[in-house]
Amino acid sequence: MGGYYYIQGELTEGDFLSFTFLLGLMIAPIVQMSNIGSQLTEALAGLDRTEELMNTASEADESGRDLTFDQIEGRVQFNNIHFSYEEDKEVLHGINFDVQPGEVVALVGSSGSGKTTIAGLAASFLQPDSGQVLVDGKDLAQSQLSSYRQHLGVVLQDDFLFEGTIRENILFPRPEATEEELEGAVKAAYVDEFTDRFEDGLDTLIGERGVKLSGGQRQRLAIARAILANPRILILDEATSNLDTESETLIQKSLAELTKGRTTFVIAHRLSTIRSADHILVIEGGHIAERGTHDELIAKEGRYYNLFTYQARI
Ligand SMILES: Nc1ncnc2c1ncn2[C@@H]1O[C@H](COP(=O)(O)OP(=O)(O)OP(=O)(O)O)[C@@H](O)[C@H]1O
Ligand SMILES: [Mg+2]
Repeated sequence: MGGYYYIQGELTEGDFLSFTFLLGLMIAPIVQMSNIGSQLTEALAGLDRTEELMNTASEADESGRDLTFDQIEGRVQFNNIHFSYEEDKEVLHGINFDVQPGEVVALVGSSGSGKTTIAGLAASFLQPDSGQVLVDGKDLAQSQLSSYRQHLGVVLQDDFLFEGTIRENILFPRPEATEEELEGAVKAAYVDEFTDRFEDGLDTLIGERGVKLSGGQRQRLAIARAILANPRILILDEATSNLDTESETLIQKSLAELTKGRTTFVIAHRLSTIRSADHILVIEGGHIAERGTHDELIAKEGRYYNLFTYQARI
């Protein structure tokens, strides 16, 4: 009976507030628990996928992958490579080329033509549907990829820099490098040109809490990192960012230093890079539409000539 009265009329404003408050106290942990639940589910799913990846990787490594790379000369051949990301949607339709050690190959062509895909195959991140990628005559399909990748350098458009000092960022691929080697890379990539102006030099912090580097400075830092790593084969996705002429000149020089003596595949946006390449491959719709040096292709007045004339499209 008493309860009835209570419900009827005696819920004061204070009661209501404390009820809401208590309800809040009760609900918050439930909400949190369900959050933890979904986080846990995500984490476990992630773990599953990681395991899946690790298993496929090790399976692939075991089954008939007997070849290893102690040393690499740097010859790279594509023999009739066909590739698709999805079934029945072939992206590369028979790519053939033969690159000698130390040569620079510039990949040019319109968006979606297959440049990044070719670079991904050369880097062994993708596997062909048919045909062979040969490095020093060894089929990558029969090689232990980890042993290949230790000779490989990949420099992407906006390379990954982390919170820390400039020194730490450059040393990242080879923490055991000597001070001399570090200095060499820093000079070759013209990083000292701006670090000399910082009070802490190479020990300057970069990132959220440190100095903000310009686009050109970030690129030079990424190049110094790649020079220090000293790979035999280099995959380079040139940044498109518009730089002032001074930065541009320094980056051209440091790129020249980086590619010296290394087999390089460069998805090229800079005219200077394309001009100085040993081979230019013009990719269109998953085919090599044209190949040659800059002078040869200009003389031909074909697709490259057109791309070159409408420079913005490269
Ligand atoms: N992960 C993927 N899954 C499915 N299709 C993809 C994937 N990556 C690329 N493609 C397709 O493959 C084709 C070639 O793409 P690719 O990235 O090699 O072109 P690109 O020449 O590098 O272009 P861009 O100049 O825009 O970088 C395109 O049709 C693209 O849509
Ligand atoms: Mg691309």
